[in-house]
Amino acid sequence: MIPIAKPLIGDEEEAAVLAALRSGRLAQGQRVREFEERFAALCGTAEAVAVSSGTAALMIALTVHGLGPGDEVITTPFTFAATANAVLFTGTRPVFVDVRDDDFNIDPSLIEARITPQTRAILPVHLYGQPCDMTAIKSIARKHGLLVIEDAAQAHGATVDGKKVGGFGTGCFSFYATKNMTTGEGGMITTNDPAIAEKARRYRSHGESSRYVSESLGYNFRMTDVLAAIGLAQLSRLPERNERRRANAAYLTEHLGGVIPPQEMPGRHHVYHQYTVRVPSPDDTSTARDDLKAKLAEAGVQSNIYYPLPVYRQPLYANLGYRDQLSVAEKLSREVLSLPVHPALTPDNLKTIVDAVNGATSQGDA
Ligand SMILES: Cc1ncc(COP(=O)(O)O)c(C=O)c1O
Repeated sequence: MIPIAKPLIGDEEEAAVLAALRSGRLAQGQRVREFEERFAALCGTAEAVAVSSGTAALMIALTVHGLGPGDEVITTPFTFAATANAVLFTGTRPVFVDVRDDDFNIDPSLIEARITPQTRAILPVHLYGQPCDMTAIKSIARKHGLLVIEDAAQAHGATVDGKKVGGFGTGCFSFYATKNMTTGEGGMITTNDPAIAEKARRYRSHGESSRYVSESLGYNFRMTDVLAAIGLAQLSRLPERNERRRANAAYLTEHLGGVIPPQEMPGRHHVYHQYTVRVPSPDDTSTARDDLKAKLAEAGVQSNIYYPLPVYRQPLYANLGYRDQLSVAEKLSREVLSLPVHPALTPDNLKTIVDAVNGATSQGDA
């Protein structure tokens, strides 16, 4: 089976982990600091703060910006539930705005209608590795005095007009095992505001201003030096691996038939965390997409559905009283299918994927 994701761990990671283990420094130390500095350089931000997961990055970012009960955050329903769950954890209310069917990201033209006196922030998600329309989002945020907190969990190295994601507001990244770069589990907050970075560093470790002096409430959201060692090795390979993903995506787009391929929007550099096609559904069901997924599995190609339910339809949100029915998010949740695009794919693998999709879709047409 050609897997949908494959973490690439090689000699460099093994040597780096061994060196970290042998150093005797296992918890947060110098390697974490170096990882932060190099990640900030990647994003073009003044600061980066390493934490234990992407979810922790989001929770900390929201918290240190002072969001809490009584506040609202505008976000997308077409994402992994962690985005909105982090908002709920701070006591803030997520308000969902529909997405566009060309970039799968929050539709800036619908944001202003959902702004209320309680709105404090916009939380766009750069889904599948394609950045949002940050020019439009930043202009709305400026006009209404709102914060921008980017969920860049899937978009390490993506850019808008040459500017890296994570630098448009406070950025939140994940290093989960299947991401474009990984530490197994891990996360990073990026910011140009030294005060926010300082608050995030404190919150990550029991609100400590110095060792064993807690100034404020915090938690243990620290990253370990062992994981930072993996992150440093992964970081040096990120540009080359993102280019492999882009080349694989270009091949798939050139050769696939019977599905709607993803599009890279003008000015935006897509890093293809996922290569997600749409399987048109004439009858408003997910049958065509689900059939294709089953046929691909028979042909030895793993595919996956990110995401089969808009967040507001998750039982958690339905139980909280969410009753949204946003038409594009609903449609995409029935039509999207992600195909393997990761850098470990061989030319043979790519051909197998194309043959499997084209074979299945032409059978479907017959
Ligand atoms: C869009 C999005 N947001 C947030 C997260 C949460 O990151 P983590 O799994 O590292 O907590 C993920 C990761 O899976 C994600 O894809």
